[in-house]
Amino acid sequence: MFLVTGATGGIGRRVVRLLRQQEKSARAFVRLTSRYSELEHRGADIFIGDLRREKDIEKACWGVEYIISAHGSDSDALSLDYRANIELIDQAKAHGVKHFVFISVLGAERGYEDAPVFKAKRAVEQYLEASGLNYTILRPSGLASNLLPLAERFRETGLYLLIGDPKNRTSVVSTDDLARIVVDSVTVAGARNQILPVGGPEILLREDIPRIFSQIFHKEPVVINSPLFIVDGLRNAFGLFNPQLQKALGTYRTLLSNEFFCRKEEIANLERIFNFQLENLESFLRRYLAV
Ligand SMILES: NC(=O)c1ccc[n+]([C@@H]2O[C@H](COP(=O)([O-])OP(=O)(O)OC[C@H]3O[C@@H](n4cnc5c(N)ncnc54)[C@H](OP(=O)(O)O)[C@@H]3O)[C@@H](O)[C@H]2O)c1
Repeated sequence: MFLVTGATGGIGRRVVRLLRQQEKSARAFVRLTSRYSELEHRGADIFIGDLRREKDIEKACWGVEYIISAHGSDSDALSLDYRANIELIDQAKAHGVKHFVFISVLGAERGYEDAPVFKAKRAVEQYLEASGLNYTILRPSGLASNLLPLAERFRETGLYLLIGDPKNRTSVVSTDDLARIVVDSVTVAGARNQILPVGGPEILLREDIPRIFSQIFHKEPVVINSPLFIVDGLRNAFGLFNPQLQKALGTYRTLLSNEFFCRKEEIANLERIFNFQLENLESFLRRYLAV
């Protein structure tokens, strides 16, 4: 039995689909408010709970052999990115789990002071490495599925909002490839006890993304390039009445102001370990947008 947290998210949903296609039993950890009917139809065992509650995590781990931690944090990195994962790891040890797959983030090791999610991910990585469990830590760059709503908006308006430096490099990974890597991590020997950066096959500049949209939709892009100080201004304004949100926006600012890409050798290593070729962004978008 696989336990998948974040089972209704961009990565988790695809992981559960793949597991069910392979006729593996999967327990999807969802909230009562989550949109989980598709997972239920696919034959996943639905566990309703909240990852902020230790008791729920403890119950969800009964009878589990593999844990895939793929949940997000709703601006609460301490409770969800940190505490929930520490509890999942402790429960994995208590239940003799065979393999733990943790979705971290590219750059988790860089020590960004102003980014609670990055700090929590790094602390969890270290806890998992020292746990004695078999593990795979995946550090994805941006997910291609995040760009689908932006592509839809571009299709209608031709508009693309680019915040920060358009020349910053990025790798965008196909969310389907990432899900496949997650599932294969528990069986592929080369993935055991490894920390792997996961990106797409090409290093893009952020300004390449509207160009790709333009090629797909045959539409001239209108790029609105907003400087980072606009985000800083918004953060300061939010800080007046919601300091937690102000802190959470530090992660967002970190993502906008730095480069997140995988080197060619890292991608070659990934393709060698998992024995398939990663899909590029244009191909992913064309599949989903039916163009
Ligand atoms: N998106 C990216 O570009 C990216 C890049 C690198 C790393 N990552 C990491 O990859 C992981 C998954 O990202 P994603 O984009 O697939 O996530 P996502 O689409 O934002 O989904 C987040 C998931 O977490 C669940 N969740 C949130 N709070 C919860 C709680 N209190 N109890 C139970 N479930 C809860 C959500 O459930 P509901 O459906 O109920 O909201 C949802 O299933 C995250 O750890 C993220 O940091 C993402």
